[in-house]
Amino acid sequence: MTKGKFITLEGGEGAGKSTQTKLLADFLRRKGLKVIETREVGGSPSAEAIRDLWLAQKDKYWDPLTELLLIMAARREHLVKTVFPALSEGAWVVCDRFADSTRAYQGIGLGLGLEPVENVYKLIAPDFEPDLTLLLDLPVETGLARMESRGGMDDRYQQQLVDFHKKLREAFLSLAQKFPVRFRTIDASGDAPGIAASIERAVAERFFAQESPQ
Ligand SMILES: Nc1ncnc2c1ncn2[C@@H]1O[C@H](COP(=O)(O)OP(=O)(O)OP(=O)(O)O)[C@@H](O)[C@H]1O
Ligand SMILES: [Mg+2]
Repeated sequence: MTKGKFITLEGGEGAGKSTQTKLLADFLRRKGLKVIETREVGGSPSAEAIRDLWLAQKDKYWDPLTELLLIMAARREHLVKTVFPALSEGAWVVCDRFADSTRAYQGIGLGLGLEPVENVYKLIAPDFEPDLTLLLDLPVETGLARMESRGGMDDRYQQQLVDFHKKLREAFLSLAQKFPVRFRTIDASGDAPGIAASIERAVAERFFAQESPQ
C-alpha cells in the first residue's frame, strides 16, 4: 500500500509540533513532493467529530479505557479516510501527533499501561508504523511558558501539573529508546528556524541520503 512516507511529530505541550509540522511540510513541498499536513486526534471529518466529542467533556469525565477507544476510533477513521489513501497515491503525510502520544498520555501518563494501547493499535492499524517519528524534546518549563505566552492553555492536559508533564517527557524519551530506528529526538529548546534545520537534516539523512554529496 505504502508509496509515500508517513512522518509523525511528537512531544509535550508547547514543544513546537504544530509549528514544525507546517515548516517540514513546506520543506518537502520545496523538494517537489506531494505533501499532506494532518493532525491527531482528528485529521478527517469523522475523526474531527470524535475529537470534538472527546474534548467537549471536562477532565476525568471519560473512563480511561473509553477515552483510549475514542482516540483509537478517531485514529482508525483518520488512517482509512485520509492517511492510507494519501500514501497510496504517493503523497508524503506529515502528522502532528500520532500513536506515540497515546502511548505516552493514556498508556504511561494516565496509567492505563502500554499493553491495552498496543492491543487496540494492532487491531486498528496492523503492521503500520510511521516511517520516521520526530520527537521534539525540551524542558517542561520551556514548553509550558510557550503555551502561556500563546494566550492560555486550551486543553485538559495543559491544566495539569508540571510533574505530569515531566512524566510525559520521560515517557516520550523512553519510547524513543525503545524504537531507536523509527525515532529521531530533536532538541526543541532553540528558536523555530534552528529546530526546522535540525528536522530537515534528520529527514534528509533518513530519506535523501543518497542525493546529498558526501
Ligand atoms: N522554537 C520556538 N521558540 C519559541 N516559541 C515557539 C517555538 N516554536 C513554537 N513557538 C510558539 O510556542 C507556542 C507553541 O507552539 P506550537 O503550537 O507549535 O506547539 P505544539 O507542540 O503544537 O503545542 P500543543 O501540544 O499545544 O499542540 C506557539 O505560540 C508558537 O508560536
Ligand atoms: Mg499543536
